Amino acid sequence: MHRILVTRRVPFSAVALLRPAGTVEIAEGGLDRTALLARVAGLDALVSVVTDRIDATVLDSAGASLKVVANIAVGYDNIDVPAARSRGVIVTNTPDVLTNAVAEFTWALMLALTRRLGEGERVIRRGEWKGWAFDFLVGSELRGKQLGIIGAGRIGQAVAARAAAFGVRPVFFDVSPPAGLDGVSLSLDEVLRTSDIVSLHVPLLPETRHLIDRKALTRMKRSAYLINTARGPIVDEAALAWALEERLIAGAALDVYEYEPQVSAELLRLENVLLVPHLGSATSETRTAMAELAARNVAAVLAGQPPLTPIPNS
Ligand code: GLV
Repeated sequence: MHRILVTRRVPFSAVALLRPAGTVEIAEGGLDRTALLARVAGLDALVSVVTDRIDATVLDSAGASLKVVANIAVGYDNIDVPAARSRGVIVTNTPDVLTNAVAEFTWALMLALTRRLGEGERVIRRGEWKGWAFDFLVGSELRGKQLGIIGAGRIGQAVAARAAAFGVRPVFFDVSPPAGLDGVSLSLDEVLRTSDIVSLHVPLLPETRHLIDRKALTRMKRSAYLINTARGPIVDEAALAWALEERLIAGAALDVYEYEPQVSAELLRLENVLLVPHLGSATSETRTAMAELAARNVAAVLAGQPPLTPIPNS
């Protein structure tokens, strides 16, 4: 009988897909690093989430029986892929099923940021609202603006596809724009210099770490906004706090952080940044679909079949 460990509570429909494939252990309350290391020995399959660091130590603690790590996320920077590959462990992710949720969420952040919803909510909660005023918390409109999308993958394209409804002009930067990309591709420098909103949709890789640093931020318009729903370390958080403080850009909305779940004290002090806690794919529809896809990947591998969604280049 195969042993499968799921590191968090997941919807029952996903557990039901796993059951025929083996004995399913679910860490209902989640697992910290020590608990994870203590539970993995002898596993055949591990279903992980973004906060689980699956490195060589975890893989070695699991041992030679481990066949698949199914990450419930599209990003897999929490997994040491070369270490998995060298031990013959298949790694899978959950692309596509979360594209809509993250694209909708990106627009939610864009609207909330440009219309200053976070600031408004804080004013009310502090009991400081004095009533309607002509010049109170005046934001800016999306119509007629240019949206610079960094990363022209599934999510970047889905964000662009929703732009026409708001009268926004999308442009892309991607190191290798996909064939048939529907939209204008510019250099990174051009996207940063000419966009009114810059939204990040690249995976976290050594080449994208601190892609948005002091230099990149100084290239942006003073009236521009930055949105990050991708991964925290793509933005140099200290540089961003500096740029926001100095008003080198107008504002930012962050769903992800460089040292998650810590948020730098500098950012917490600023009004022109909207801070939300890594919620991009957090809809009941999408989280269920993600867990089910991870379960299907495990079932396929344990049945000796190829997984549905192996990570790219694996
Ligand atoms: C979430 O952050 C994901 O990569 O799916």
